[in-house]
Amino acid sequence: MDFRQLTNKYGSPLYVYDFEHFKNQFNSLKDAFRGKKSLIAYAVKSNSNLSVIQQFGELGAGADCVSIGEVKRALKAGVKNYNIIFSGVGKRDDELEEALRLGILFINIESEAEMKRVEVIAQQLDVEARISVRVNPNIDPQTHPYISTGLHENKFGVDIESAKRIYIYAKQSAHLNPVGIHFHIGSQLTQLSPIKEASEKIANLVRHLKVLDINIKFFDVGGGVGIQYSDETTIEPYDYAQAILSTLSGLDVTIVMEPGRFLTANGGYFVSSVLYEKQNDGDKRFLIVDGAMNDLLRPSLYSAYHKIEYVTDANQSETSKGDIVGPICESGDFLGKDRDIPKDIQHGDLVVVHSAGAYGFVMASNYNTRGRVAEVAIENGESRIIREREDFSKVIELEEKFLK
Ligand code: LLP
Repeated sequence: MDFRQLTNKYGSPLYVYDFEHFKNQFNSLKDAFRGKKSLIAYAVKSNSNLSVIQQFGELGAGADCVSIGEVKRALKAGVKNYNIIFSGVGKRDDELEEALRLGILFINIESEAEMKRVEVIAQQLDVEARISVRVNPNIDPQTHPYISTGLHENKFGVDIESAKRIYIYAKQSAHLNPVGIHFHIGSQLTQLSPIKEASEKIANLVRHLKVLDINIKFFDVGGGVGIQYSDETTIEPYDYAQAILSTLSGLDVTIVMEPGRFLTANGGYFVSSVLYEKQNDGDKRFLIVDGAMNDLLRPSLYSAYHKIEYVTDANQSETSKGDIVGPICESGDFLGKDRDIPKDIQHGDLVVVHSAGAYGFVMASNYNTRGRVAEVAIENGESRIIREREDFSKVIELEEKFLK
């Protein structure tokens, strides 16, 4: 990828997405479930750009959404309502109402209280709400604690006994139709065994429900398949599919997946330019670039490691250790720590952060009155802008009219 040409054309900093990679990831997952009824509901939160969603939609993906805003994005990008699911621990009444009006595939219920709200709203609208219950299987996903969700100590889902109660209640309700079951144990999973264990537990619950004449049609395994940021071993789609399928014998269900990171992370690059360099206390080296934590938060928030590539004429085998930091007034503002940086890197050279396609731009903010950067897609060897850079007037737009 010619990052220099791209920054010349679109400016810096910049997000660049390789649509070919997105497509290959999608197809590899779809192929792994070939011959089975499956729906890949793309986790819109990982990268919500309309053109990105559109591309997955064209490939046949549905959408997993966590706000009505995401549902509306998915629809706008061409995803069909019957392929959209709505998850999330705290859905507002107006969101539930709109989701019911829009006729999406199902709503993932996260508590008994939420089920009751959905019932009331469905009754008011005189519709039958298709629901799925998010069950918390209490399994350690062996990932970063901030992105682990399947343990009882996490706020997500309900335990197995509560789930049974919800299903029994929903079955006799005129306004609830329990069509699915859902679990999601965490993100950036690199081990198969927790997924298999969770799937087994939930499949057993489905069998138990069947005895009660509650027939689950959609078996939603959530997202979470990890990717390679540095040298972690990752899960192969085929093995993932086999692990899940092996737990489903005798069940006639459509497998729903909600992958985000697996589809988008390694197709995205965050590109910034070198501004200055300095040495504090004579030995600590800092490379100051124009991209910052407001643009890409993962390193600061999770101490996440992202590979970094340099576009420079400097000799890249002569390096010294240093931190790559942004212009924000926070010590935690860094893209990389203790990295091997070419000794002779120059003002204007590029620093490209890899694996930035998931939870990159979407977690950006306007902190320090920095406009959000532009996003560019690479498709069939051509680049095209898919989101404009926010200029100053855009950033102050919603405040300006209130000046006295
Ligand atoms: N489904 C549910 C219910 C989820 O909560 C999530 C992610 C996904 C699917 C998609 O997970 P994925 O396949 O992308 O791992 N900001 C964090 C990640 C937060 C993930 C939240 N939930 C990060 O940058 O690592």
